Amino acid sequence: MSQMIASLTEEHKRMAKLLSLLDQEITRFKEGNVLDYDLISAILEYLTRSSEFKHHQAEDEIYKWLKIRDPEGACEIGDIHIEHEKLAFLCDAFREAVSNVEQDSELPRIWLVSVADEYCTAYKNHLRLEETFLFPLARKTLSHNDWQDVEEHVIRERDPEFDRLEHEDLDDLRQDILTWHDAGFTQ
Ligand SMILES: [Fe+2]
Ligand SMILES: [Fe+2]
Repeated sequence: MSQMIASLTEEHKRMAKLLSLLDQEITRFKEGNVLDYDLISAILEYLTRSSEFKHHQAEDEIYKWLKIRDPEGACEIGDIHIEHEKLAFLCDAFREAVSNVEQDSELPRIWLVSVADEYCTAYKNHLRLEETFLFPLARKTLSHNDWQDVEEHVIRERDPEFDRLEHEDLDDLRQDILTWHDAGFTQ
């Protein structure tokens, strides 16, 4: 049980690191620098794929059990599943804005900056919400059997070979982003 929370928290740290790089890129763009489209796209790809790779699924399952075990507590947190859908929607809007600005450099910078800020702020608030409320309440409330059910649900119908490759791929992508970003800042 605590193992799952520990690995979700570790994933949050990796996501938060890439979100801070995204923030830095947008700040540079705001200051008049050229936007590194490939870097932004790679970060959005990482954030999307790592969320879709078990992470949101595990949290949705945890939240499902919380609604059963502590409906009032779950209600106070807000609907985690809807939050995940909202993040996916904001990510699509951000991706589209980046592509539009890439094709038409005359588009106002402030527009892209506001779409980017909305996405980054929503993502950071979401991570904080889960770490502050969802994880502690789940730790306190869910039984051993509930955790087992969450785990079984997450691995059900998954291809272990695909998971292994996706895990490696995501790790490589993250390393590339970090190296790429550092290189950009030493130029
Ligand atoms: Fe989440
Ligand atoms: Fe999360």
